Amino acid sequence: MGEMKSGAFSASVQVNGISREIGAAGKRLADVLRDDLKLTGTKIGCNAGDCGACTVLLDGQQVCSCLVPAAQAQGREVLTVEGLAADPRFAGLQECFVKAGAAQCGICTPGMLMAAADIVLDRTVRTREKILDRLGGVLCRCTGYIKIVEAVEAFLGLREQPVTEIPEAGSVVGARLCKVDGLARANGSARFGADVQLEGALYLRAIRSPHPHARFQLGDVDAWLKAHPGIVRVFTAADVPGNNVFGIFAPLRDQPVLADGYVRYHGEAIATVVGDKQAVQSLPANDFPVEWDVLAPVAGMDCALAEGTPDLHAHRPGNMLMEVNQITGDVARDAGAHVVSGSFQTGFVEHAYIEPEAGVARRLGKRIELSVSTQAPYMNRDEIAWVLGINAEDVRIIPTAVGGGFGGKIDMALQPLIAVAAWHMDCPVACVYSRTESMRTTTKRHPSRITASMSCDAHGSLRSYEMQGDFNTGPYSSCGPIIASRVPIHAMGPYKVPAVKCITRAVHTTDAIGGAFRGFGVPQAAIVHEALMDQLADQIGMDRLQFRLHNALKPGDRTATGQELSESVGMRECLQWLQPHWERELAAAQAFNAENVRLKRGVGLGCMWYGIGNTCQPNPSTMRVGIDARGRITLFSGAVDIGQGVNTIMTQVCADALGVEASQIQIVMGDTDRTFDAGKSSASRQAFISGNAVKLAAEHLLREIREKAGATPQDEVQFAAEGVRVGGKPLALEGFAADEEGMVVWGIGHYNPPTTDLDAEYQGVPYASYAFGAQMALVEVDTVLAKVTVKKFWAAHDVGRALNPTQVEGQIHGGIAQGLGLALMEEYLPGRTDNLHDYLIPTFGDMPEVEVHIVESSDPLGPYGAKGVGEPALIPTAPAILNAVELATGVRPTQVPLTPARLWDLLQKR
Ligand code: FES
Ligand code: FES
Repeated sequence: MGEMKSGAFSASVQVNGISREIGAAGKRLADVLRDDLKLTGTKIGCNAGDCGACTVLLDGQQVCSCLVPAAQAQGREVLTVEGLAADPRFAGLQECFVKAGAAQCGICTPGMLMAAADIVLDRTVRTREKILDRLGGVLCRCTGYIKIVEAVEAFLGLREQPVTEIPEAGSVVGARLCKVDGLARANGSARFGADVQLEGALYLRAIRSPHPHARFQLGDVDAWLKAHPGIVRVFTAADVPGNNVFGIFAPLRDQPVLADGYVRYHGEAIATVVGDKQAVQSLPANDFPVEWDVLAPVAGMDCALAEGTPDLHAHRPGNMLMEVNQITGDVARDAGAHVVSGSFQTGFVEHAYIEPEAGVARRLGKRIELSVSTQAPYMNRDEIAWVLGINAEDVRIIPTAVGGGFGGKIDMALQPLIAVAAWHMDCPVACVYSRTESMRTTTKRHPSRITASMSCDAHGSLRSYEMQGDFNTGPYSSCGPIIASRVPIHAMGPYKVPAVKCITRAVHTTDAIGGAFRGFGVPQAAIVHEALMDQLADQIGMDRLQFRLHNALKPGDRTATGQELSESVGMRECLQWLQPHWERELAAAQAFNAENVRLKRGVGLGCMWYGIGNTCQPNPSTMRVGIDARGRITLFSGAVDIGQGVNTIMTQVCADALGVEASQIQIVMGDTDRTFDAGKSSASRQAFISGNAVKLAAEHLLREIREKAGATPQDEVQFAAEGVRVGGKPLALEGFAADEEGMVVWGIGHYNPPTTDLDAEYQGVPYASYAFGAQMALVEVDTVLAKVTVKKFWAAHDVGRALNPTQVEGQIHGGIAQGLGLALMEEYLPGRTDNLHDYLIPTFGDMPEVEVHIVESSDPLGPYGAKGVGEPALIPTAPAILNAVELATGVRPTQVPLTPARLWDLLQKR
């Protein structure tokens, strides 16, 4: 240890083989690496030792650098992800991750790689069990861990190298192409929200309500500011220059940027402070001049709907945001002789992406520019313009790499806060949410309370489905209307049901904000229809899988909204693939149970369908692809890659549409000044909708090139290293003027799926395409400890066409991991589980083996037949697990997560 010129304590450390003198006084090693040495490959997910994103090697052993005082690194060697490639001991490790598809969003990847490096160095760790144990300190929310373990095992020579392809021109779609941005995610160079460090930036922190429901009055803010050196500005509701309200749907905007005297949830922002990082971060939570008049919370839907409960929004009486009724046929008249019913509950579920919200804003004259982690750049642009009272064209959103979204980064979080501050200041304003702030203040999966009944006739044909579902949308509308409208359409599951009556309501409370989360309410509804399917099959004495097969939707069937399905309906194929597994595992479980008293095994099925894209609304995507004077191709894609791999599949579609290799295409992602609006990365819409837009853009580019060459439609366009040839002749592109992007020819593609509005009884065409899937879980229940272990999953998904099978598998693995969390462990309790040690998500040890089967039912409207898989992957998981538990134990779970305490209660009542 020594003393730096500034007088602060320093430490001498070897960082990635280079001697560095680091400021050490009171600092965490992670902060020194990121802030002082600019090694932002080391990520911060929690700052508390829970997520492992900050893992580095210290003298060859993995440590959480957020827990290591920098002074402890004195005289030691630190290896970060940036130093991995140059170290011959780990040569090829990062490439192995990329080839295996082990990095999706990539925020956990640096930490995961360093944990893997620790394994490489310790030759005693060469078994699956020890590898899982050694990787177990790092959380991943995207991959379901399977491909990570495969990558590590492959690197160690314990299994075959992952299969990847470098496809030839014309066969790029469908190939196992490595992620086009995979290496950047594996070598630490991808820039996430917190990694964008602008010169001279000040930091913002929100002052938040400690109460879920209160009125407040600010005190003497000016005097408080004078007493706090290092804080340079305070912003309140009065400083919002345009409109102090935003939302997902313009007509329903209801969420203030900064609350103005009234808060509706715990953690709502009432002011922001801006200053130097140290001053802002060290501010005690309750150090702000404000007087609270605490009101009774409107906690839970019972309270919200009770007579006498105050309305949270004056114009929404009874705390009712929205009610939707879907009626097809007459459920009373058409009901079959066999009827089952039940009531089910789900809680708030947190997205728990490993990257907390982060971004930076700066004003450039009359314009403002935000670099932020977001799923919805154009929606951000329009809402920021509304908040600031400026034109949308004067807002530029530059999406950073997104460290997981799953729907949670559709809504704006810190965007309006930094935008308002930067608008008033002459320096950039940055903000990074703490883990607690992220979990406390951003949206969650809607808790649900669903009562339903299902009937069939004596032959096992479904006759009716009736459902009443309430969804807790919290204080603001967010995606509440989407959930209320999507659920009734999907409520009966992927089955042909002649008579349907579904009523859904979105209810305001002062709990957390309900928002988009992988499936938009369909996962909650699937728990219900799949439980009832089992009950009804049992009642009529039919095999559970056969009952599903008998009723599964087929090409040409009509849905409950009256829509005639296309030929792309692979529901039966999914179930048929499961059938031998079902019969074998069912028999094995029965044999196991006959011999065991304490441990019981069960297998369970879950089926799903999912309408691709937004419900009924216009749902367009516009893409453009250009070539420069040397014939180099660039795809300008407004579709944000949140880890699902849209950059890669858009490249694949573009490549085949142009007849080139994938490596010939560069991609520009998301920047609203450089790309067109491709819509949100949500609702599993990008593959289908933006994929079509890319294909159309590429086809348009070919037409434009032919026109410039004076060629016929039959003349082939070739993109060669020496330039573009048309009909075998070179095209002199240098003769055409280049625009500001350096492009000389453009192709533009626009696609809006053919949907219609639904009428008063919810009849119409809400989606142009549907994905289908079926999963089967094998579980073992310890009936003494009431503990469920998921031992294996079989997953069959109809994705239309697998644009990239490695990525499809990765989505299915990740969906199953999140579905497992929904079923067994995850419940966000407002004010109580605001961190990753109280809120548990699946780890390596929780993840079962998964066997994936991809059904390709080629959608006539999809790009090369593709549909989507992001959300479908999660939907059948929880039902499959719960149905397996029921088969194992004889008790029917009706509330998730099925914690040991809840299962224990059920077993006692058995
Ligand atoms: S950031 Fe260090 S463990 Fe999460
Ligand atoms: S890839 Fe692991 S958290 Fe996203």
